[in-house]
Amino acid sequence: MKVLMIGTGDIGFSHARAVVRLGGSIIGAYDVNKVGLAKFAKEFDCAQLEYDQLKDHIPNADYVVLCTPPTKRLDYAEMVLSAHVPLYMEKPIATTLEDAEKLEAMEQKYGGKIIVGFAHRYRPAFVKMHELVSSGVLGEPVHLYSHRYGPGFGYGQRSLSESWRTDPKLACGMTIESISHEFNLLTSLCGDFATIAANVNCTIPSVPQYDTNTSMVIRAKNGAIVSIGASWSSGVGVNIKGYIGTKGAAMLKGRNMFEFDEVVYKTLDMETEESFIYNDSYALDQDTVVYHIHKHFWDCLENGTEIITPLAEGVKVLKLSMAALKSSEEGIEVKL
Ligand SMILES: NC(=O)c1ccc[n+]([C@@H]2O[C@H](COP(=O)([O-])OP(=O)(O)OC[C@H]3O[C@@H](n4cnc5c(N)ncnc54)[C@H](O)[C@@H]3O)[C@@H](O)[C@H]2O)c1
Repeated sequence: MKVLMIGTGDIGFSHARAVVRLGGSIIGAYDVNKVGLAKFAKEFDCAQLEYDQLKDHIPNADYVVLCTPPTKRLDYAEMVLSAHVPLYMEKPIATTLEDAEKLEAMEQKYGGKIIVGFAHRYRPAFVKMHELVSSGVLGEPVHLYSHRYGPGFGYGQRSLSESWRTDPKLACGMTIESISHEFNLLTSLCGDFATIAANVNCTIPSVPQYDTNTSMVIRAKNGAIVSIGASWSSGVGVNIKGYIGTKGAAMLKGRNMFEFDEVVYKTLDMETEESFIYNDSYALDQDTVVYHIHKHFWDCLENGTEIITPLAEGVKVLKLSMAALKSSEEGIEVKL
């Protein structure tokens, strides 16, 4: 497939490598940062586009990948969707519900086909965990959790100007940007949430909206309880995600906050737990993490099958992030 890129920063390279690995090509790219764009164009041997050229080039693409900071997406989304070209949009879809509603209106107006980049949902270890849960062997959900801790942007000696995440004009914080993954993963295992209570903390006083730590307790609509803990200001890291059901339990474990190394499970009638090793490391191989979701998108576009993480999923999790922030700010439990 022929793919056009808007936003050629860190994750943009992984997207483009995934496209090439699948047998596709990058036909053009745009970024406000001309130095970054030139480096990208060199690796992928593609045209370096000016903003005004996008409208002419977008119709030549089989899909467009949009991975600019989340506050800088609406005009690009309109250009892509109005040309009836499928859109791969990075998460979070936006940082305000107003922008999310504008995206929904565009999707409806143009009959848009959109995948939101919840890449962890497609990683083989999580797919295994999801299969175990959906097969019913673990029973009904009782207790789910996700705990991931490690060093994020702004930790230690890292410069605040290194990323949009710690730029006061663009920052949205971990609860909106990254806990979006937890909301996506956990609701895929236990369904929608009914209530949420959260506390967040920021460790960088000059960017107070950049929360770097979060702790949440949640009640799912089906009665299961859910806890989420995460930090971007921890020098030591771990990742565990678990499902405790009425008939068995499963746990995904990782060396650091985005590593998906192993899935273990044990049902009541098993003597010992069974383990599946993946050693899938985001830190060591971010490109492969992104590859799996592109493969899914290709399948959907080629065969007309359903997108697992469409725009509606991005809107749903943004609403959960907003509810968590409201809970923390007002010191209340939010009913959803
Ligand atoms: N799904 C995942 O696992 C995953 C992983 C990393 C990042 N992301 C998401 O991808 C997005 C980008 O993150 P990143 O880490 O690549 O950030 P980055 O800062 O490395 O890249 C962002 C790029 O956007 C460009 N940009 C900024 N404003 C622009 C504008 N108005 N028009 C065009 N280009 C513009 C910047 O110059 C930069 O090259 C974020 O939403 C982030 O949450 C997702």
